[in-house]
Amino acid sequence: MRPSRSLPPPLLARSAALGLLEGALTHRGGLEGALAAPALAALSSQDRAFARALAMATLRRLGVIDQVLRARLAKPPPDRVRDILRLGLAQAFFLDTPDFAAVDTSVALAPRAFRGLVNAVLRGALREGPLPDDPAGLAPDWLLARWRAQFGEAQALGVAAAIADEPDHDLSLRDPDDGEMVTALEARALGAGSIRLERRGDPASWPGYAEGRWWVQDVAAAAPARLARPAPGKTALDMCAAPGGKTLQLASAGATVTALDLSAPRLARLTANLKRTGLAAESVAVDATRWEDDRRFDIVLLDAPCSSTGAFRRHPDVLWNARPSDLASLARVQSRLLAAAAARLAPGGVLVYSVCSLEAEEGEAQAKAILSRHPELRTDPIAPGEAGTTPASLTPEGWLRLLPHHREGGQDGFFIARLVRPA
Ligand SMILES: C[S@@+](CC[C@H](N)C(=O)[O-])C[C@H]1O[C@@H](n2cnc3c(N)ncnc32)[C@H](O)[C@@H]1O
Repeated sequence: MRPSRSLPPPLLARSAALGLLEGALTHRGGLEGALAAPALAALSSQDRAFARALAMATLRRLGVIDQVLRARLAKPPPDRVRDILRLGLAQAFFLDTPDFAAVDTSVALAPRAFRGLVNAVLRGALREGPLPDDPAGLAPDWLLARWRAQFGEAQALGVAAAIADEPDHDLSLRDPDDGEMVTALEARALGAGSIRLERRGDPASWPGYAEGRWWVQDVAAAAPARLARPAPGKTALDMCAAPGGKTLQLASAGATVTALDLSAPRLARLTANLKRTGLAAESVAVDATRWEDDRRFDIVLLDAPCSSTGAFRRHPDVLWNARPSDLASLARVQSRLLAAAAARLAPGGVLVYSVCSLEAEEGEAQAKAILSRHPELRTDPIAPGEAGTTPASLTPEGWLRLLPHHREGGQDGFFIARLVRPA
């Protein structure tokens, strides 16, 4: 993010939003990194909140914003100018910033040689009125084409429409029956220990956080661990565990958990989460395909690294950073991890495979491939609505293809399969 302390107050937050947008679109996972940048922490909490809201609103409508800009620009401007224009439109159309303020601040942020262009493009677009309200315009073309082929027209447009929506916060309760916490947080119970809050701000300041009575976890992300049926007396291996939402679920249900992750810094977040919640798990920083240990487990959970295209509700940048070539290389990683997962399964054990991806190569194709390579495994069909999941998401095979619009108020997109190795 650019140094911005010398800017006049109205430009500080916009300049920070520009840094966030640039960070988010420059490299994969960039939004999270940009949000942690020291320059952002130096802003007042009000400016920080505005910068974040502006960057998120821009990313959630990037498809339609770019359509409008393409129609108004004879040739692509430098990246920085294009990002300033994007933020200008998002302010005026989605954040209720008065038109004159959106235009004036955008012009002031632009390099001198492009100020006339920024002024003309924004004024022209604002005169024309609201941006097109077309779900198909919200997704990158190549992803929408894939979703159409995979899910059909209506479902693909349902997924795309969810891109513009700002999600509520979902939490998982350490004790699924903690009614006191539901009341204290003014939350709505979603079933099976997930709750939903409209509350905004920093979760670390909410009731129950310091005592570890809950953790932030999307309702769809909470399903894989529940579907593994953890219970006291069972051993569980969480193969790609950090930052640890699913490890916490397995441990809070009483299982004896071993958590692996390739990334030591991410595993440190898992350890901090365990400490806060007072839960226990053995954690090992290792490549799960090379872990030298001969134990077998009653439960193996593989929440594999993936393109994360289903996580766009909180990370809208994933849609714009994903590349078709990533899908093939991630599919190879998932296939290796699944083979390692199958080898860790005790007779009678259950293997839950999940990815927060909407793409079949990372989901259905992986489940089919492991079943054909390992005839000793079979699908343990998930029941309609099991563990609080949306019945509309059930596939004919008994797997889950959770789509964001299958739940009122939304949920992350996930693929989940539950396999068993009969005793
Ligand atoms: C989808 S995230 C896991 C999220 C986690 N299950 C949770 O619920 O909080 C995937 C994780 O896989 C880890 N990972 C990637 N390749 C791995 C490998 N070969 N072995 C172990 N972990 C790996 C990444 O570091 C990342 O933390």
